[in-house]
Amino acid sequence: MNGPVRIGVLGCSAIARRRTLPVMRDADHIEVAAVASRSADKAREYAAGFGGEPCGYHELLARPDVDAVYIGLPNALHHEWARLALLAGKHVLCEKPLATDQSSAKDLEDLATTNRLVLRENFAFLNHPQHDEVKRLVADGRLGAVRTVAAAFGFPPLPATDIRYRAELGGGALLDAGVYPIRLAWHLLGDGLSVAGAVLRVDPALGVDVSGHALLTSPDGVFADLEFGFQHTYRSRYQIWGSAAALRLDHAFTPPPGHRGSLDIEEQDHGEQLVMPAAHQFRLSVERFADAVRTGWSARTEAPWLAGARETARLAEEIRAVAVTVPAQAGAA
Ligand SMILES: NC(=O)c1ccc[n+]([C@@H]2O[C@H](COP(=O)([O-])OP(=O)(O)OC[C@H]3O[C@@H](n4cnc5c(N)ncnc54)[C@H](OP(=O)(O)O)[C@@H]3O)[C@@H](O)[C@H]2O)c1
Repeated sequence: MNGPVRIGVLGCSAIARRRTLPVMRDADHIEVAAVASRSADKAREYAAGFGGEPCGYHELLARPDVDAVYIGLPNALHHEWARLALLAGKHVLCEKPLATDQSSAKDLEDLATTNRLVLRENFAFLNHPQHDEVKRLVADGRLGAVRTVAAAFGFPPLPATDIRYRAELGGGALLDAGVYPIRLAWHLLGDGLSVAGAVLRVDPALGVDVSGHALLTSPDGVFADLEFGFQHTYRSRYQIWGSAAALRLDHAFTPPPGHRGSLDIEEQDHGEQLVMPAAHQFRLSVERFADAVRTGWSARTEAPWLAGARETARLAEEIRAVAVTVPAQAGAA
């Protein structure tokens, strides 16, 4: 592909307005071609701010001037609309999580692979170089043998009308915040993770989980201890505890673009602090997706994205299946 990637945006979401559309509008190799909403006024408003033709969802997928689609819809709608977009021959950048269950993720993976279309899940943190540095330290043996990865992502309650409190839209803390530590565990420990146990705190009135805790094990016996929720003070952190040293990274999942994270290494008799580079991970995620579209589909580059999305969906589904549920106190949401 020679010109810019022409992207159609499905849904005038908060995340599209705050993060995705500003990055797309300013990127060299991306053109916002169309913006779809259920409301004509909203589509016009977003198009006026970010470019593109306002339209409806089905109309957007039928447009020949749209090469790729960005999906920022509620979680339960990702599978349906990603499927329709792929069937229309569009590449897809979908908000996390790609799917709410394993079979839907596998369905999309098969469709994208058969049609040689780029399909990525927008876990922006995976693009931040600070995690490459962590992987390098682990691979170099700096921590010795890794025993436990502990990760947490949580934040305070959201407005009562938020999609995250609506079960029928794929709401809940597991699918919203929990998928970050799950994806991190797969990123660091690889395939074959199994769920040893889990607890979910469920709001009885809403029927959605508002926080949770899961314990996974890797095939070679490493534990992944994962916490998530929206009943907390802000936390976005992971720690890797090994036989020789432990490492801790704060602001792990959603660091602001200018933030230079500190990687704290603690050994038996001393500590060390490494300052990480800053990065605009959201921009990197969107631009790398567009680069993949421009370069042309490649099994080698797309396979890890597809496997990561499938494994994240599988583990979230298994956590839900085994979890002991406890009621959230009234007003917890
Ligand atoms: N990668 C990240 O860092 C990040 C951060 C936040 C959120 N997200 C993900 O982005 C997605 C959207 O989250 P958000 O917070 O931006 O949500 P939001 O503001 O509520 O946006 C969702 C949009 O979906 C459309 N929609 C279509 N059918 C709907 C329905 N039945 N009910 C409600 N909305 C419907 C609406 O657009 P129209 O009214 O225009 O049709 C709505 O604006 C979620 O999957 C979330 O996990 C990702």
